[in-house]
Parts: sequence; structure tokens; C-alpha cells
Amino acid sequence: MNIFIKNIAEETCLCEALIIPVTESSADIRKGLPAQIAKHVNKNHLNSFSGKQNEILMIPAPSDIKPKRILLVGLGKKDSVTADKIRQAGGKTAVYLREAGIKSMALSTGLISSLKMSPAEFAEGAVLGLYTFTKYKTENKAKHIKSLTILSKSSHDIKEKLKFAKINADAVCFARDLINNPSNDMTPKDLASAALTLRTKKLTVKVLEKKDVQKLGMGAYLAVASGSCEPSKFIVLQYKGGKGAPVVLIGKSITFDSGGISLKPADGMEKMKYDMAGGAAVLGVLKAASELKMPVNLIGILPATENLPSGSAVKPGDIVRTMNGKTVEIVNTDAEGRLILADAIEYAKRFKPKAIIDIATLTGACSITFGNEAIAMMGNNNELKQQITESGDKTSERVWEMPLFEEYKDYIKSDIADIKNSGGRNGSLLTSAYFLYVFAGQTPWVHLDIAGTAWTEKDKPYVPKGATGIGTRLILDLIKELK
Ligand code: BES
Ligand code: MN
Ligand code: ZN
Repeated sequence: MNIFIKNIAEETCLCEALIIPVTESSADIRKGLPAQIAKHVNKNHLNSFSGKQNEILMIPAPSDIKPKRILLVGLGKKDSVTADKIRQAGGKTAVYLREAGIKSMALSTGLISSLKMSPAEFAEGAVLGLYTFTKYKTENKAKHIKSLTILSKSSHDIKEKLKFAKINADAVCFARDLINNPSNDMTPKDLASAALTLRTKKLTVKVLEKKDVQKLGMGAYLAVASGSCEPSKFIVLQYKGGKGAPVVLIGKSITFDSGGISLKPADGMEKMKYDMAGGAAVLGVLKAASELKMPVNLIGILPATENLPSGSAVKPGDIVRTMNGKTVEIVNTDAEGRLILADAIEYAKRFKPKAIIDIATLTGACSITFGNEAIAMMGNNNELKQQITESGDKTSERVWEMPLFEEYKDYIKSDIADIKNSGGRNGSLLTSAYFLYVFAGQTPWVHLDIAGTAWTEKDKPYVPKGATGIGTRLILDLIKELK
């Protein structure tokens, strides 16, 4: 979809549908419309439309104005309009118009600017909401909207915000594509190829093969990879856009999690292709940061592998040595995420980072706790956690802090090794994070568990069913604000 900015009056805009956001009102809704339009709108048309959030009404436009149709979309009560409600309106209307076969839409921005909000939020919601994954449909009858015209003065501020929104939303869609692909088409090698497509002068990509990580002593990561015939790929991206110590982003990249010898039940196992959603989010962030030429230094690490059972797979009770020297008793091969992340965190330290953020579909307990509504956050640095919380509120990729009580250390004590990879079901959201904490040590570090939010079973206003691409918008906002 092309997005334009045009400084013309609503009634002179040649488009199939003119979108006019309105706030909720029990009085005459026409009062909220641009005068030139309001005088043409018949009261009967409005019916019971009252401008409730995401309520939509499409009416034919009078013949003496250029738009063919007028679409009213509700933003809810005037004093409680948020950026997210505007994004939702963008997603809702775009999908509604697409399904109605419309190709060109325009947005009236009077109300949005009078509320001191940006039409860029609307555009972001539209791009995110219009996402589809149709690659495997042989009869693809998908409809497409070709253009969104934003009716506004084309100021520097609007242009910049729009550019950010577009690149940001495209990066989310890029991540969603990677996740939605089935694991037979998204192997560690495929993920490495996707990373390699991001290469530029300032963004370099290095792929460590098995022999390389063997030399580094990544015994925990190698143990997870040992069951699969697909070669593991330890993917490292480096974006140099500024000065100073980098932020390292680590994304869990299990391209399929069967559980390994501690096999998962068959029911729902097909969903475990999304166990690389953390890695996809990291690629999304790196892609957007480099397209936006952000003045920051970033490292992205994707320890990619499948987790499968086989004659060569790691077995419950096996003990491995991690890159940092600690030994781990693998009591459950399905707790594989923390194993690959442990070695990735140790590897990250060589960059002397100012912060490490890992993002992972780490525990079923995370979705049991929060359902689809929040990312669980744990970490050792209050300032960083505070900043991530703020970005979460701004982007509506909400995070909720959970504790790292010292007592959790006992849960993962092993009788014969330094530590074990699972403390059982009790507190597993916290003990999995504690396991990572043991490896992060004093380096400022935050862990984000996205197991509950990386996938949605139902359509949301700007998140269609399937992979959500969560984490990309959150972390991009964070690094934009990080000083
Ligand atoms: N990838 C799973 C966690 C997961 C579950 C993500 C459901 C998304 C949806 C992870 O590797 C896992 O299997 N975790 C186990 C750990 C347990 C064996 C200690 C879990 O949470 O059940
Ligand atoms: Mn698992
Ligand atoms: Zn997993």
C-alpha cells in the first residue's frame, strides 16, 4: 500500500472512501464532521451510529463531492482517545474497506490533530491490520488496498513520523512472515538466509556453524541441536549506526520445538513453529533500525536450531558444559530455550554491551499467567526495566514485571552439576528467568517472555490471526528513546 500526504480539502479528494474519525457523542454526530461534509449527511444515514470505539459506518457520498463514500469510524470518548485507539481504528477501517473491495482510501485528520495525536498511528494500524500470509494458498483471491492518502499539511514532523510508522510496521510484517512459515520452510538455514538479506554497509551478518560454536564451547546450545539433521546456525548481526557500547538483542530461535526426548503431546505441537518468534522480532528491529539509519549500535544474536528427538539427541539426565564454564544437568529436554540463551548471553558479553535484552517464547507458564495480554519481564536493572515498561505502554506491547527472588536459585540446584535446566512446574516462569540471570550476572540484562503474546488465535484490530510479530515495535521504541 502506498501512503501519500496531500494538503487538500476533504470534499476535493478523489478516492473511493474518505475516512472520518469521530468521537463518541449522544448528540448529533454531524457536529464532529468537517462542515463541507456535514451539510451533505442526512440524519437518517447515521441511524444508531454513536462513535463508540471501532464502530464503523459507511455511507455513499453526495454526488457533488469527490470522494465516492464516507466512512465514519468511532474513537470512543473524546477524553480517553489514545494512540492505540487510533492504531485500532486504522486497522479496523483498512480491513473493512479491503473486504468491501475498495482500492483507495483517504484520511481526514482534523480530529486526530485537534486531539494532539498523529495520523501516523492510523497509518501504522492500517499497514499492520492489512497483513496477510497467503503464500501457501494456491487459489489466492486476496484483495488489496492500493493507497492511503493522508489529508494534512505535509510538515517535517508528519513526514518523519509517517516514515517511522511505515518502516516499523513493515518490519513487524517481515517478522510475522518468518514466524508464519512452517518449520520445513523456516529451518535454521532459512533463518540465516533471511538475516543475510538485511546486509548493508552498516549492518553485517555472520553465521557461526557447528564447528565454530564447538570451538567456543557452547555445549548447551550444541546439546539442543544434537537431535536434528538440520544444521544449527548461530546468527550474529552487527549494526553500527553510532558511537558507544552496543545494546545486544538475543532472540530465541528454535525453528521447531518438539520437546526433544521429553516429547511434547501431539495436540497443538504444530504451533511450535513459532518458537523462533523472539529471533524474528530481533531481525525486525535490526531491519528497521538500519532502514531508519538510527544513530545507535546494535548486536542481534539468533541461536537457531530445531529441538528434535533422535538417536543422537540429548537425553534427560545428560550434563553439558556451557560456554561460560558452568555445567548444566538437562533434566528436561523441553526446557531448551534457556539452554541456547545461556550460551548466547555468554557470547554477548564479548561485545561489552551496555545492555542485553533477550526475547523468547520461553514458558507455557507465561501464557497461563497473562493469556494473550502481556509480555513477562524480569531483569537485573531497574532503569532498563522502567524504560521497557514505558515503551510497552506507548506501543501497547505491554510488559509486566515478575520477580527474581533469590529463593528461586534453590529450585534449579542440581545434585551433581552446577545447575539444572528445569525446576519443574512450580514457578517455571520465574525459575526459567532465574536460570538466565545466573548467566547474565552483573551485566545489565532484561528477559522478555513472549510465549503468551507471540501468537493470536483470533483477529484483533491491527493484529490478524497467527504470528503477531510482538517485540519489534516495543524494542524499536526503546532504542529510539535510549540515550
Ligand atoms: N517453547 C516452549 C514454551 C512455549 C509453550 C511457548 C507454549 C509457546 C507456547 C518451551 O521450550 C517449553 O517447552 N517450555 C516448557 C518448560 C518446562 C519443560 C520446564 C514449558 O513451559 O512447559
Ligand atoms: Mn520446549
Ligand atoms: Zn521452546
